Amino acid sequence: MRKEINSSSTLVSNDLRGAVTAIIKTPEEIEKMRVAGKLAAEVLTMIGPYVKKGVTTDELNTICHDYIVNEQKAVPAPLNYGHPPFPKSICTSVNHCICHGIPSDKKLKDGDIINIDVTVIKDGYHGDTSKMFVVGKPSILAERLIRVTQECLYKAIEQVKPGMRLGDIGHICQTHAEAHNYSIVREYCGHGIGASFHEEPQIVHYGKPGTGDVLEPGMCFTIEPMVNAGKRYSKVLPDQWTVVTKDRSLSAQWEHTLLVTETGVEVLTLREEEALERVISHN
Ligand code: MF3
Ligand code: CO
Ligand code: CO
Repeated sequence: MRKEINSSSTLVSNDLRGAVTAIIKTPEEIEKMRVAGKLAAEVLTMIGPYVKKGVTTDELNTICHDYIVNEQKAVPAPLNYGHPPFPKSICTSVNHCICHGIPSDKKLKDGDIINIDVTVIKDGYHGDTSKMFVVGKPSILAERLIRVTQECLYKAIEQVKPGMRLGDIGHICQTHAEAHNYSIVREYCGHGIGASFHEEPQIVHYGKPGTGDVLEPGMCFTIEPMVNAGKRYSKVLPDQWTVVTKDRSLSAQWEHTLLVTETGVEVLTLREEEALERVISHN
């Protein structure tokens, strides 16, 4: 999501702000979040075999849309979301596109890297997740960027538990990306999620340990680091959605929706292929 500047949802340290504004989910809501998360994950698994040289991103959009609507009996959250209304049902961000790429009639070609970002609404609750795909054989640089970006996400997830602070999440992502001479995009961030697509708090992917809101059991939010091979700066294209790197360097992103449990975290959008535990407990 776009990071709001000068708004009440701008990150302010917990001490200054007094109270955490994140919505704590009830057990009934958590069950709905599990269902929505699983469906979003299943869309990414389903679309994998179609991500090949020659396919257009609009064809990928149509396959996902039909699957979500007809098979899952769910709603694709991006369609008509925001201002101007997002025109498609998934985001497809290719190569130097950071996020919010609009599916089009452009064909994928050998060596392209693409992030597919899926958000479904089921029974009023959202599941939001994205994954990188490579078309044919990726360059060494692309492969490394994709791996390091996933490591940023996994390293942050592995530390999530009550008492962790938002600055800790940002610091983990930033430190890992910068150790590889990559940069973290700052204008877009993760977010609380539930009955709304984007809730408080904003989850930025850079920051200082021991700062920011404190995580509590029952919070649901996404972590979705965007990592550039070059400089961190972004710009929005005239379509008012597509975000690209200013220097045209490659960019990668991975996203999961998480639930903070009493002892750690549950990855609500985990796919079977992933080498990550769905439930991580620190006790
Ligand atoms: N799924 C994106 C996120 O992770 C938001 C996409 S908004 C859209 O927050 F309108 F572009 F779909
Ligand atoms: Co998303
Ligand atoms: Co998101």
